[in-house]
Amino acid sequence: MSRTRVGEVLALVQRFVGEAESDGSRLVVVTRGDMTLEPDPATAGVWVWCGSAQAEYPGRIVIADVGSHDDVALAVASGEPQVGGVRRPAVRAAAVAVTSEASEPQGWDPEGTVLITGAGGALGTLLARHLVTEYGVRHLLLLSRRGRVGSEELADELEALGAAVTFATCDVADRESLSAALAEVPAEHPLTAVLHAAGVLDDGVVTALTPERVRRGSCGRRSTVPGCWTS
Ligand SMILES: NC(=O)c1ccc[n+]([C@@H]2O[C@H](COP(=O)([O-])OP(=O)(O)OC[C@H]3O[C@@H](n4cnc5c(N)ncnc54)[C@H](OP(=O)(O)O)[C@@H]3O)[C@@H](O)[C@H]2O)c1
Repeated sequence: MSRTRVGEVLALVQRFVGEAESDGSRLVVVTRGDMTLEPDPATAGVWVWCGSAQAEYPGRIVIADVGSHDDVALAVASGEPQVGGVRRPAVRAAAVAVTSEASEPQGWDPEGTVLITGAGGALGTLLARHLVTEYGVRHLLLLSRRGRVGSEELADELEALGAAVTFATCDVADRESLSAALAEVPAEHPLTAVLHAAGVLDDGVVTALTPERVRRGSCGRRSTVPGCWTS
C-alpha cells in the first residue's frame, strides 16, 4: 500500500464519519498486506490510525486484512472490530491476548548493552530509567538525532544509579549512520536488546488529520530496525 493510498483511506474515513446518513452504518476498511506477518509500512500505518478512529467512533468502523475480497464477509461476520489474517478457512482476531499471570522480570544480561532509540523522548526516558532500576541493565546506548543534547540530566541520573551511558547522534532511518553507531558497541558489552522508541508524534482526532500530518507523525520515516514500528 502506498502513502498516497494512506491519504485516500484517510479521506474516505473522514468522509464516512462526517456524513450524517452514515449513522448506523459501518465502514469496512480492507487491507491485503497480511497484518499478522510482515505488513508494509503504509498498511501498518492504516491499521494504527484506523484503530484510533475506531476508538473515536465505536462500532462504526471495521478493519479487515484479507486474502481476497471473497473473505470480507467472513471477516465482518466474525463481529471483531479488527480482523487480521483472514485466509479461508481461518479467521484470526487481531486482539491482543492478555495473560493474567504476573510475569517475573526476565533475566537481562547486566554485561550486555541495551540500545534505546529515541532515548531523549518521553517514552525513551521512561524506558531507560525502568530498565536500570527494575531490570538491572548497566550498559545503555541512547540514540537520537540530537544525541546527548537535552539528555544530560537523564544521563546523570542513570549514571548515579550505576549505569554506564553512551550516546549516539544518529538518524535511525539512516542505515549507514545506524551501522556506524552499532559498530561502536564494545565487544565486552555486546548488544543484547534493542528498544525502539524513536518517532515523531503528530497526533489529533481523525477529522483533524491530513495526509501530511499522517506522513509526518506515523509513516514519514521507516525504521531500519526490522519489524519495528513507532506508531
Ligand atoms: N508518549 C506516548 O504516550 C506514546 C504513546 C503511544 C505511542 N507513542 C509513539 O512512540 C514514539 C515516541 O513517543 P514519545 O512521546 O517518546 O515522543 P518524543 O517525546 O517526541 O520523543 C521522540 C524521540 O525520538 C527521537 N527521534 C525522532 N526521530 C528520530 C530518528 N529519525 N532517529 C533517531 N531518533 C529519532 C527524538 O529525538 P531527536 O529529535 O533528537 O531525534 C526523541 O528523542 C512516537 O512515535 C509516538 O507516536 C507515544
